[in-house]
Amino acid sequence: MLRITVLVSGGGTNLQAVIDGIESGFIQDAEIGLVISSNPKAYSLERAKKHNIKYMVIGKTNYPDAEARTNALINALDEAKTDLIILAGYMSILDSKMIEAYRGRIINIHPSLIPQFCGQGFYGKHVHEAVLASGVSETGATVHYVDEGIDTGPIILQEKVPVLEGDTADTLAARVLKTEHKILREALKIVIASINKKGDR
Ligand code: GRF
Repeated sequence: MLRITVLVSGGGTNLQAVIDGIESGFIQDAEIGLVISSNPKAYSLERAKKHNIKYMVIGKTNYPDAEARTNALINALDEAKTDLIILAGYMSILDSKMIEAYRGRIINIHPSLIPQFCGQGFYGKHVHEAVLASGVSETGATVHYVDEGIDTGPIILQEKVPVLEGDTADTLAARVLKTEHKILREALKIVIASINKKGDR
């Protein structure tokens, strides 16, 4: 049974997609052992509570010092016996110490077709505003492994999403979010199978 820790900061619809994927049996051999939010007010925490998933807050509010915050994160991940970390709407950049400790075991969902519209400053609604401003006719979502860069690790899965006439950042975000949920579950199956195949848990 692969133990997953999900890092969140906001509403948690991607967290919910993983919870639903596991509870429906679409994703097998895995469980969410812990949800860590950087934001004490994140609705993600309500979702964890509702599904009896252990949760905790580790963020600037309770760990203002960056080094202490990274150490608290690594300790929490180790104590939860984490095999795989999912960044699901997580709004902090991971310290290289954490990347090193969990290299190849951290995945992120990004609301664009990486390498387009990603990197520093491209998060949440800013991504969709940039897509609309560019005039492209399609965008999408990407699940990728996390490395020291921002949205730069090896891509696991991507799916295109059309930009429609009259789209606003909100209507586009809502359409992309549905695809995020779909490919996050599909990517999770791929990653779990690959970890099980390697057997080096
Ligand atoms: C999503 O668009 C995700 O791609 C981005 O944060 C947004 C909110 O995600 N990283 P969630 O609803 O909190 O999962």
